[in-house]
Amino acid sequence: MSSLHLVTHPLIDHKMAILRAVDTPSPQFRQTLREMSWLLGFAGMAHLKTRPVSLTTPLEQMQARQLTDPAPCLVSILRAGNGLVQGLLELLPEASVGHLGMARDHDSLEPVDYYSNLPADISERQVILADPMLATGGSAVAAADRLRAAGVSDCVFICLLAAPEGVARFEAAHPDIPIITGALDRQLNDQGYILPGLGDAGDRIYAT
Ligand code: PRP
Ligand code: URA
Repeated sequence: MSSLHLVTHPLIDHKMAILRAVDTPSPQFRQTLREMSWLLGFAGMAHLKTRPVSLTTPLEQMQARQLTDPAPCLVSILRAGNGLVQGLLELLPEASVGHLGMARDHDSLEPVDYYSNLPADISERQVILADPMLATGGSAVAAADRLRAAGVSDCVFICLLAAPEGVARFEAAHPDIPIITGALDRQLNDQGYILPGLGDAGDRIYAT
């Protein structure tokens, strides 16, 4: 069974066109990615566990539902992951946030793992791993490997754009981790960039 969930919505189409266009400036790119993270996050967090709570409205007592404790953990694959996690944290302000630094080597296209900071109790939390781009899949697979090694058993991966090559590699390595994406593009080029894609997400977010 495929773990790929393609989120479809007219607003995703509209915002994706803004993100893809080469002449969209960084401030608009960042803001649109933030808005996109709300739409993807809404779908990607549909599985979060809740528990019953008793509360009193201004009119009467009732049983409502709230997220379980400890709250979920958002994990950003640096640096472009921060462009998604900022908006995800607005949806879920109770979350803790972990960071995994992965930079793709330009020649081998394999990720170089340069930083890790995860909550000590991450194994007790539902985890939402985020990176805008799933290209060869090397970075996402390495990040999910790290989460597994830290004891994480309940995880989803949210990305903006995925290539078929990256989806296949991620599904083979982590078949139990659903991939939530806003688009499945055609293929990778010789330099490992997604086609038609949007270019280098980190460079477009941070104007580098
Ligand atoms: C980009 C992107 C992913 C990775 C995807 O990051 O944000 O992390 O490439 O490619 P892959 O699926 O082939 O691994 P990059 O390594 O350029 O680092 P950055 O976020 O610091 O720009
Ligand atoms: N990383 C990016 O930022 N963009 C791509 O197209 C591939 C990897």
